[in-house]
Amino acid sequence: MSLNQSKALVNAKNDSYTPRTMTGLSQLQQQIEQIERDLEARWPQLTDSASLEAFRVEFLGRKGRIPLLFKKMGSVDAELRGQAGQLINALKVRVTEDFETRIAEQQAAARRQQLSTDAVDLSLPGTRRSRGHLHPMTIVQREIEAIFMKMGFDVATGPEIETEYYNFEALNIPADHPARGDWDTFYIDEKRLLRPHTSPVQVRVMETSEPPIRIICPGRCYRRDTQDATHSPVFHQVELLWIEEGLSLAHLKYVLELFTEEFFGEGYEMLFSGDFFPFTEPSVQVHIKAPGAENWMEIMGAGMVDPAVLTGVGYDAEKYTGFAFGLGIERMAMLRYGIDDIRHFLINDLRFIKQFS
Ligand code: DAH
Repeated sequence: MSLNQSKALVNAKNDSYTPRTMTGLSQLQQQIEQIERDLEARWPQLTDSASLEAFRVEFLGRKGRIPLLFKKMGSVDAELRGQAGQLINALKVRVTEDFETRIAEQQAAARRQQLSTDAVDLSLPGTRRSRGHLHPMTIVQREIEAIFMKMGFDVATGPEIETEYYNFEALNIPADHPARGDWDTFYIDEKRLLRPHTSPVQVRVMETSEPPIRIICPGRCYRRDTQDATHSPVFHQVELLWIEEGLSLAHLKYVLELFTEEFFGEGYEMLFSGDFFPFTEPSVQVHIKAPGAENWMEIMGAGMVDPAVLTGVGYDAEKYTGFAFGLGIERMAMLRYGIDDIRHFLINDLRFIKQFS
């Protein structure tokens, strides 16, 4: 705009002079009405987020038409300025509310549109969730526990990190005893080791209770054994202990026969042979032969609890006798399912594990 032109504008203004205040307010009203007419035309066109954003910038944005009206209030006479402000403000509130409603409608429409294109196809086959199941070791351990619990045994537990005292001394295996070599295992420090058998739990239970005692103790054990088809450095045992007056080896045999019949069913053979354990006298080994199998499998060490172990926990060994055993759970599972290698239990090959679902 040239200087002459702007002068001309000023003159034109001055020419059509009416009281300045009145002009200011009525001009503002006209502008408001113009905006409202424009709005009427624009609303139906606001169908997507781009047109909505363009609308916002044009009417409500920082330099939009409605905020600009507030700036023009300066030309309105001070007495009428409040009235002008109310008019503009009412317009702004109305337009903002309508605009927000429009945005919500547009978003809902967009969602409906998306739902109709992303709709679930009910005829598609579902995705199958794979269902977990118990590990064969857990199945067999629970079965063994259930059988003995039915016979009246309680389940006890003890620590996997055991002291030399409970693991050896209290079981009649002094430090210089050659039998220690059979169980010397992974030491944590000078006095503690990973237990190589569940037998220390016998002592822990006897120390805190009086006969009659009837417990089993399932648990994990550790040994330096070199791995082969029937040996693993980590394995599981179920310990059993029954202390009462008048128990003999015949009772042990009877309990074992009841148990193997219940666990295996018909056709399995059982064999006792002599053995040695410092904590039993006499000591035996028990072997099982599956139907049709050629070889016997040793499943436990057992025996009558040595009087030295009983007096060690303060029991009267003249009065009480009892028997105990340590049963290998892996071997029971191998016999039950015809598994040929103990290492299968630890490898976690799903092709193996899934056979026991
Ligand atoms: N603790 C022995 C082992 O792991 C097995 C054993 C033998 C347990 C005789 C007993 C028992 O309770 O009386 O080799």
